[in-house]
Order: sequence, then structure tokens, then C-alpha cells
Amino acid sequence: MEKREKLYEGKAKIVYSTEDPDKVILFFKDEASAFDGVKKATVRGKGALNNAISSMIFEILAKKGIKSHYIRKLSDNEMLVWRAKPYGVEVVVRNVAAGSIVKRLGLKEGEKFKKPLVELFYKNDELHDPLICEAHVELLDLAPLEEIPSMKEMALRVNEVLSRIFSEKGLLLVDFKLEFGKLPSGELALIDEISPDSMRVWDAKTGEKLDKDRFRFDLGDLLEGYREILRRMEGL
Ligand code: TMP
Ligand code: ASP
Repeated sequence: MEKREKLYEGKAKIVYSTEDPDKVILFFKDEASAFDGVKKATVRGKGALNNAISSMIFEILAKKGIKSHYIRKLSDNEMLVWRAKPYGVEVVVRNVAAGSIVKRLGLKEGEKFKKPLVELFYKNDELHDPLICEAHVELLDLAPLEEIPSMKEMALRVNEVLSRIFSEKGLLLVDFKLEFGKLPSGELALIDEISPDSMRVWDAKTGEKLDKDRFRFDLGDLLEGYREILRRMEGL
């Protein structure tokens, strides 16, 4: 599969066309970004780690019947995926209070929820990805309204599968963000990446933060955390 033209460049990835109009290549950059692009840095080796972790997660989910745009990993930094029509909504699942919900609702970080919470956010950096509800999805035409229940169901399934696998490895899946889109086949599918950039993962025993919060809040070497997640996942 050969890279043709650059279709889109985001903060952490570049999308290239290929000879097949239905398939694109995601190139994972060595760039870290936080607070909607306010804090940025080049982190050598980050792209390869996110590609490895994300590929592994999409393969695990495929085995459980959860559809994504993933086709295969092409190289250290490249993943081949189905070209999808992206929806402008982010779906976040939370098992434990952390991040924006702590501030928004005055919760205590680390508080475990009785059941997983699903939230919708408007994917818009300038507005800092505000929390929205279904009515806003309809108002802004971010995704087909009738697909929101399926997106939430898929998000909860992803949570079940990943939480179990992570807990077997001594990792706590605190929260994560998913993006969805429509594949050329017309199917609803997970798109983008599922990596420590888009999840919070803590060591189950020590509570050590292994995800992008290390970069957001200068908690320690970013790659050490990502490598630890990959090392434990490879022991699957
Ligand atoms: P939050 O606590 O900042 O709302 O984030 C919840 C989860 O979603 C956390 O794991 C980080 C992830 N996330 C992204 O991947 N991209 C984003 O733009 C935002 C706001 C959150
Ligand atoms: N993903 C967003 C950014 O890169 C927000 C964040 O992760 O803090 O800017």
C-alpha cells in the first residue's frame, strides 16, 4: 500500500490517501499535544508506541465483534484503515472520577463510579470540546441521531473488554475517548486511535498514572508510561 497525497494533518496523526479510494494510511507522529493544542512537544518514539497499542486494541476488539476502521498495521508509525466519514462527536466512558468531570461536578479524583458513565463531547478545539447532549448532536448535525444509542452501546462494550484485559495486567482503566464514523460499507465503526493519548490508565496497585496526564501535568517521562502499558499488554 503506497502513500499518495496528504489528506489531513491533525495534532498527532497525518492521513494519506492510497491507490484504493476506500483505504487511507494513518501516520502516527512523534508529537504530544494537550489542552486542545495549547501545550505541545515532540516526543521521539511516541508515534510508534501509540500505533502499536492502538493496533493491538483494535485487533482485540475485532475478535469481540466490535467494528473499527482498522485493517492492519503497516509499519512502526503507519496503520492502514478504511476511509470513514467522521462524526463530530467524541464519546467518553468513565469508570473512575478524573479529569474534566472532577472540576465540572466537584467530585474527588479516584472515586469509583457505581456503573460506567457515558458522556458526549463536541469535537471542537477552539471551544475546548464542550460537553453536549443528544439535542446538541441533532442541532449541530454532528452524527445521525438514531446512531447515538448504538455508539453508546459500543462504547460500553469496549469498556467491558478493555477494563477486563487491563485489570488482568494490573492496570485500571479510568476513562477513555472514542470517535465514530461511517465506513464505505455503510457500517458504524470506531475510528481514530485508542491509545494512552485518549485514555487514562493507572497502575492498579500504586495508582501511578501511565497515560498522557504525565505530559499534561509534568508527572514523569511520557514514554516510560506508554512503554509500561504496551509491555503489560504484550503479555496477553
Ligand atoms: P476529560 O477528563 O478531559 O474530559 O477526558 C476524558 C478522557 O477522554 C481522557 O481519557 C482523555 C480523553 N480525551 C481525549 O482523548 N481527547 C480530548 O480531546 C479530550 C477532551 C479527552
Ligand atoms: N487531545 C486534546 C489535545 O491534544 C486535548 C487533551 O488531550 O488534553 O489538545
